[in-house]
Amino acid sequence: MKFILTTSQGIEDLAKREVEALTEKAGLNGKVEEKPFGVEGRIAAEIEEAYYFDEKRKKREFEIASFLNENSKLLHRVILHISSTRLNSSEKEKALQEIYDFVLNTPIENYVKVSESFAVRSFRKGEHEFTSVDIAKTVGSAIYEKLSKIGTPKVNLDHPSVIFRAEVINDVFFLGIDTTGDSSLHKRPWRVYDHPAHLKASIANAMIELAELDGGSVLDPMCGSGTILIELALRDYEGRIIGIEKYKKHLTGAKMNALAAGVLERIEFIHGDATKLSQYVESVDFAISNLPYGLKIGKKSLIPELYMEVFNELSKVLEKRGVFLTTEKRVIETAIEENGFKIKHHRLIGHGGLKVHAYVIS
Ligand SMILES: C[S@@+](CC[C@H](N)C(=O)[O-])C[C@H]1O[C@@H](n2cnc3c(N)ncnc32)[C@H](O)[C@@H]1O
Repeated sequence: MKFILTTSQGIEDLAKREVEALTEKAGLNGKVEEKPFGVEGRIAAEIEEAYYFDEKRKKREFEIASFLNENSKLLHRVILHISSTRLNSSEKEKALQEIYDFVLNTPIENYVKVSESFAVRSFRKGEHEFTSVDIAKTVGSAIYEKLSKIGTPKVNLDHPSVIFRAEVINDVFFLGIDTTGDSSLHKRPWRVYDHPAHLKASIANAMIELAELDGGSVLDPMCGSGTILIELALRDYEGRIIGIEKYKKHLTGAKMNALAAGVLERIEFIHGDATKLSQYVESVDFAISNLPYGLKIGKKSLIPELYMEVFNELSKVLEKRGVFLTTEKRVIETAIEENGFKIKHHRLIGHGGLKVHAYVIS
């Protein structure tokens, strides 16, 4: 079985590693490839079907898609791959005709029963003369025509039994069945408080991976709604987990989220100012934080001073490594270097339409 897995741009290598570890843990044989067709934010996984015997000794198929949906920390969607191709034209009429013909030649009937209702959800990225609505309409009508040959197809756009996912990314067309459903996996069920600048849980987990934790204490000095700390606690991390947040509203929100996640007892939340963090913690092994970017007009000028003060405080307490995310490349690099830290790793990660810089420092 082949799957197209989606995640944030810039963390495909970490997601690939996670999928490899999960398949190995489940005793599955598979091959995982990052950026199939060179497409960012996508992973292709070819995993052999596997079977097990249930308590009644009945042979059952191991549900790979459910297993990935339930266990992955870094993926956004698990799509059962049906077919993919490169499009020859970017001209509206020609490209849509190509997509239509390609879907018509695909054995859709092997993936869906005519009695099941379906919908097509589409995604488009790159320069095209057509919209994602055009893709959904084109693919939907090709599937409808194909299924009409064997029965009466049922379309249900609001509550379909089967969700087809059609993606055009640059010149690549993917068609699959979205086993994740309409809500992406990065939208965690524990998020009851919605911080205006919250981090995607998948990226929080990528930062945790980049920190290469060893069981030592972890601090998020500007923890907002607690995403990084909550995700860490949910991984059954055994070390101390500490969060500082200046604004009471966000700190209360973080506690509500942690309570919803069932990990409130695992996290020490402190209402305080990160520019004075050495007053609250004497020493920490790791710091992981999604820093404020100062995107609001009027706040941007405060960022250099804030970063400088926070990294100065970190230089007093941080023992091992720090992982930070920001849009402010020059400002953070100055704060890192002037406070005696070294940049060990840098990468760009796609977050909410922005490219943000991730740093590992020690
Ligand atoms: C980008 S947000 C963090 C979002 C968080 N990762 C989440 O997922 O909710 C940055 C946070 O830093 C907080 N902050 C700004 N200045 C601070 C300071 N001096 N001390 C502590 N927190 C501060 C802001 O209130 C904001 O909640």
